[in-house]
Amino acid sequence: MMANVKETKDFLESKLAGFKPDVALVIGSGLGGITQGVTKPVVIPYTDIPHFPKPTVAGHAGQIILGELAGKKLLVLSGRFHCYEGRSPAEITYPIHVVDALGVKVLIVTNAAGGINPQYKPGDLMVIEDHINHLGINPLIGGVNGDGGVKFIDMSQAYSPRLREKLDAAAEKQQVPVWRGVYLATTGPSYETPAEIKAFAWIGADAVGMSTVPEVIMARYHNIEVVGISCITNLAAGISSKKLSHDEVLEVGRTAQGKLARLLTEFIGAL
Ligand code: HPA
Repeated sequence: MMANVKETKDFLESKLAGFKPDVALVIGSGLGGITQGVTKPVVIPYTDIPHFPKPTVAGHAGQIILGELAGKKLLVLSGRFHCYEGRSPAEITYPIHVVDALGVKVLIVTNAAGGINPQYKPGDLMVIEDHINHLGINPLIGGVNGDGGVKFIDMSQAYSPRLREKLDAAAEKQQVPVWRGVYLATTGPSYETPAEIKAFAWIGADAVGMSTVPEVIMARYHNIEVVGISCITNLAAGISSKKLSHDEVLEVGRTAQGKLARLLTEFIGAL
């Protein structure tokens, strides 16, 4: 596998003419607005990249965008891989190995999530303070190929306190209100039952989604500093009596992405 990562890295570097990204950003469902601010973009479809996971029938493939934002060199992973597509943990986290191989030391993850905390409203942003892995998988199980066995990775500060402080400062400066909370990941693709949401609230979750946790675990394995933001696209099942719909998730994401882009641009500039 690591030989594959090297080939992927060599391919990307051959496209980059010396461009060395400082920061990587994973874009969640419907949250791509920030890419409009990227200058001198080089866009590489995932389907062109050797060893990148192949698109499924249902999922659109995505692309890497490289360029500058707020004076920093940025690598955007626009489109991620999910458990609910039937992806393996190794496929879901493959891009993180590539980010590491390119020498990137800061990873920003974004996602769409359902609000469990009763204070949250659709369109709100939540800085991820910590997560609960409810996926039933861990991408480090069995060890990462080529690394000589299983590694026990500390997760007590998975989301960098240093970067969270910077994100708070950026939010203050841009007057973008943010919550701070715990993100819980489930596999999906069905949304949760009200009983599951009640249980998740009891165990300490503020928001629920179907992504992010595998990538964050792999980033910590590589000692990449992580910061995460959830866009609360809906109230979780049973928090409101409304039925959940994927279209609504995407729609609310689209309306909130301007504010998310402002926040992240300020944050990236201050890194
Ligand atoms: N549940 C799980 N994943 C989600 C939700 C939700 O309510 N909203 C957006 N992603």
